[in-house]
Amino acid sequence: MEFHRLYTDGRRSTRAFTGRTLCNETIHSLLQAATRAPNACNLQSWHFYVLDQKNIAKLVPDVYRGEWILKAGAAFVVCTEDSVLAERFGERGKMFAIQDTAAAMIMLLLEAANIGWSGCWLGAFEPEACRRLLSIPEGRVPVAIAVIGEAHTQPPMRDRKPLGEVCTMVGDFDAPGDKTEATAPFTLRSGNYGGALFQDLNLAEARFDDIWLADGKFNNINMSGTVFTDINLSGASYAGVDMAGTRFGAVDAESTCVEMNKAKFTQVDFTEAVLKNCRLCDIRLENCDLTGMTIDGIPAEEYFKK
Ligand SMILES: Cc1cc2nc3c(=O)[nH]c(=O)nc-3n(C[C@H](O)[C@H](O)[C@H](O)COP(=O)(O)O)c2cc1C
Repeated sequence: MEFHRLYTDGRRSTRAFTGRTLCNETIHSLLQAATRAPNACNLQSWHFYVLDQKNIAKLVPDVYRGEWILKAGAAFVVCTEDSVLAERFGERGKMFAIQDTAAAMIMLLLEAANIGWSGCWLGAFEPEACRRLLSIPEGRVPVAIAVIGEAHTQPPMRDRKPLGEVCTMVGDFDAPGDKTEATAPFTLRSGNYGGALFQDLNLAEARFDDIWLADGKFNNINMSGTVFTDINLSGASYAGVDMAGTRFGAVDAESTCVEMNKAKFTQVDFTEAVLKNCRLCDIRLENCDLTGMTIDGIPAEEYFKK
């Protein structure tokens, strides 16, 4: 994934996994990334314990209380061994060692996002319980845990404070944010783009109007707030798409037409989606979270029991 996209629309803390496990090759890639992190004096004062699912289960509840980690595919307990740094630099050296582990954690989490996995940083765990469980020797301290898995549902990217609030510019710089120009939303109007591939794009608030997009592919796309009007999306597939606030049909929905028969959706967040006057025959739902879903005002569980 392109680096800018990796941190603007890729890595985020995910706390709902499918249970899929990571193969050795993936584990090794993540460890490679983690150990390429900058670190004090290149002493690499870190040590990693890699846990499979069976061992992640042993973390709950004594080491970490959140049961959601049970569905992670692997966990990395990142420890510091600060003795050499502390000998050389005293208290400052201990701080260097903690910074080493933080740098390794973010490298690992970014690489996970880069290769299509999701994860979360855990800091609120019990280090002593962790030490006992993994027989971690004296002199090695567990600092953080990265849980990695395949996202079941991906949360939206979380907002950050405006740069002006967290930055002090020292010297002759413009205040951050001063020069941000409003960019017009991406608009595609009237055309035949059957089979087109949309990959790794930010199409937030985009407009697609009067477009033939049958068999199109949308991979890793931010489509929050995107509006599709008079569009044919038959056979289109959607993977890793954020559709929060996507609108199919304009506000005056009667005048628009959307065809989506045979569309395929994988890992798409449809939270708060509204479907009205739609034909939903022969639809297959597999492994979907239907919490809070209502059909004509009736909760889905009751509706399907009828
Ligand atoms: C030092 C540190 C400790 C954290 N501890 C936890 C934790 O114990 N449990 C958890 O669910 N998330 C934990 N997080 C994840 C943060 O909640 C998350 O990064 C933050 O809310 C911003 O969200 P984002 O990562 O999606 O941008 C921790 C993150 C950091 C850097």
